[in-house]
Amino acid sequence: MKERRKMNRLGQGVVHEVPRIGSDGESEEASGASDEVTSPVNVKLRQKNRRITQEDINKRLSLPADLRVPDAFLQKQTISSEGPLSRSSRRQSLSEIGFGRMETYTKLDKLGEGTYATVYKGRSRLTENLVALKEIRLEHEEGAPCTAIREVSLLKELKHANIVTLHDIVHTDKSLTLVFEYLDRDLKQYMDECGAQLSMNNVKIFLFQLLRGLAYCHQRRVLHRDLKPQNLLINEKGELKLADFGLARAKSVPTKTYSNEVVTLWYRPPDVLLGSTEYSTQIDMWGVGCIMYEMISGRPLFPGATVEDELHLIFRTLGTPTESTWPGISTNEDFAQYPFSTYTGESLLTKAPRLAHDSGLGLLSKFLLYEAKKRISAATALKHPFFESLGHTVHTLKDQDSIFSCPGLMLTRDHNHKVTNGGQAKTRRQSMHF
Ligand SMILES: Nc1ncnc2c1ncn2[C@@H]1O[C@H](COP(=O)(O)OP(=O)(O)O)[C@@H](O)[C@H]1O
Ligand SMILES: [Mg+2]
Repeated sequence: MKERRKMNRLGQGVVHEVPRIGSDGESEEASGASDEVTSPVNVKLRQKNRRITQEDINKRLSLPADLRVPDAFLQKQTISSEGPLSRSSRRQSLSEIGFGRMETYTKLDKLGEGTYATVYKGRSRLTENLVALKEIRLEHEEGAPCTAIREVSLLKELKHANIVTLHDIVHTDKSLTLVFEYLDRDLKQYMDECGAQLSMNNVKIFLFQLLRGLAYCHQRRVLHRDLKPQNLLINEKGELKLADFGLARAKSVPTKTYSNEVVTLWYRPPDVLLGSTEYSTQIDMWGVGCIMYEMISGRPLFPGATVEDELHLIFRTLGTPTESTWPGISTNEDFAQYPFSTYTGESLLTKAPRLAHDSGLGLLSKFLLYEAKKRISAATALKHPFFESLGHTVHTLKDQDSIFSCPGLMLTRDHNHKVTNGGQAKTRRQSMHF
């Protein structure tokens, strides 16, 4: 019960979407109604006891200005309900509109099974928009699992163009469902579908957005801690958004999912692999480097199967750490347990020649430093010459502005052919890499 109260409180900050149908869920408005713009000029309060307007409601419930509430709900409201709105009456109003109820959403295909939840594609009956339903089963737990509570409480504070928007929360006895805006694919799927390496322009656009979202989080002392292509969502426009904040405040990073699958180690920094539990923003920057390399080369950088294998791959490529590359490593107990050879390292340029372009290697090597505190921060990385070709306006964007509002900035359609020619694309990727 305590958890339920907590979830109710958490529900206050979500960004509700725009309903288009009656609260009975039946009477859809005439087509085109959704595009109607209600002019703010029409909302002047003219007389007492008149029917309350759409925009009065939106203001009162702190909903987005363009939100259309169902007519049936509007008709019930009167202007006499002026005065400050209590939390509980706001919640009740939202619930009458349809928020917080499972019948508002139609469940469609399964999108993925992740670290602690199953994610379905869905459709909101309020708006007809696609949503992602992240369903956390509660059968074996008392109340809501803490991963979900953390994810919700963090997300409601994070409002940024490069962070996925949480629209609603549905809490039943059996499950807790987080309703997110829907994005077409994650970065792993994007890369798989690409058929070849991403164009350098797209690498820059995606990496810049990842860094923007991350700089915003880090500025607020929020760490992601589970950065990987599967947790970066991309829509048709090419907007990239950070998702899955489930581990952002967890005490330790798990190695198994609830269904006992192994959590990928490929993007984990060596300090975490060697037992560091330090809570610092730099732990996210290693993963950014791994993702940058993977986008440029078309292959994961360190695809280790176990902690030892992961460390081995890292050391073989970057050189086994010494006191000069990693002060304190010689006294690390975990490190001493493994029989690592003394590698001098390999050239990343040989593995991925495209890193030579636009000082890509320079930026990558700043992410992949053994000493966490020396790693480049997200905010500093945004200013790196690697991003020069994106122009200057990318540095003047407000938090909620899309990168594509910058004049002249466009995604290169590097995976268009997969829509018509998916099978062939796969073969091409395979033949390139193996
Ligand atoms: N908003 C969304 N839109 C589209 N797909 C999503 C969305 N959220 C998640 N997914 C898909 O579901 C997968 C699992 O979701 P995620 O939030 O990462 O859950 P978990 O914590 O279980 O890993 C993601 O890797 C992605 O492919
Ligand atoms: Mg995930």
